Amino acid sequence: MKVFVYSCRKFDEEALFYRFAEQYGIELGICREAPTLENAGLARGASYLSIITSKIERPLMERFASMGIRMISTRTVGYDHIDLEAAKEFGVGVSNATYTPECVADYTIMLMLMAIRKMKRIMQRAAINDFTLQGIQGRLLSSFTVGVLGTGKIGRQVIKNLSGFGCRVLAYDLFESDEVRSYAEYTDLETIYRECDLITLHMPLTPENDHMINRDSIARMRDGVVIINTARGGLIDSQALIEGLESGKVGAAGLDVVEKEFGMYYYDRKSDLLGNRELSILRDLPNVVVTPHMAFYTDQSISDMVGHSLLSCRLTEDGKENPWKIL
Ligand code: COI
Repeated sequence: MKVFVYSCRKFDEEALFYRFAEQYGIELGICREAPTLENAGLARGASYLSIITSKIERPLMERFASMGIRMISTRTVGYDHIDLEAAKEFGVGVSNATYTPECVADYTIMLMLMAIRKMKRIMQRAAINDFTLQGIQGRLLSSFTVGVLGTGKIGRQVIKNLSGFGCRVLAYDLFESDEVRSYAEYTDLETIYRECDLITLHMPLTPENDHMINRDSIARMRDGVVIINTARGGLIDSQALIEGLESGKVGAAGLDVVEKEFGMYYYDRKSDLLGNRELSILRDLPNVVVTPHMAFYTDQSISDMVGHSLLSCRLTEDGKENPWKIL
């Protein structure tokens, strides 16, 4: 049984791929590049693909299906980069890979603290020996009402982490979890917008919640609200966020994800014109911390992503229950 791996990074993934492949009795094919119509042929002879965030749109799905690919495993939690309709149409299975939610949850708390303690300004000033205090006074997280949108594994871990800070936590999800009720109060979106000083996003991106943070929802939020996004860039209308930040309606933001990040993040683009104006503006604002989709990135997550991706192919091949199966 062969798995062809796209976008395999030499410095942190490759050795893990060989270790887990040996453990699960898998033959590997490895390629550094993301999958495209041009390099799809490299995967010939494999029944499974392991990919990361590269887009798999209809034509590529059709090509892989015609080559006999049974399943595409993305070594990510989110799978909004895969055309699921096309996968269904061409009979290609899809699976994801989970990793410990602490990776993203810890990072989320870091972005919250950076935002409310004005860390970007503090670091910029300290770097030029400006050790003055005016303009960098912070606020205590314990004085905040925090709204957590999305209480899946990551949202739940964020809520648990927050419980140590002593802040009031409101939560929203279409599916409520009993575990969350020990630390937070479930409520509706309107109440979250009206009562929260900080709102953090932890939901998958779907057609229904695309741009859920927009001019209208921002207008319903508290003045000076802090917005944190470690989930998917598409949840926020960047233009509306910029307007909110410029008017002071939004007091600060911590963004590990932005719109139009595909093909940009994880590549060296320093000599290119990025053509992402919203990113340029957001990066320039003193009250916005932007990081390049790094919240997941720890030793533990990489081992989990590689291991779970290969194990999910092994289980499918053996006709066993695959806990990461999406389709
Ligand atoms: C995910 O696992 O869904 C992530 O957001 C991290 C990935 C883009 C590498």
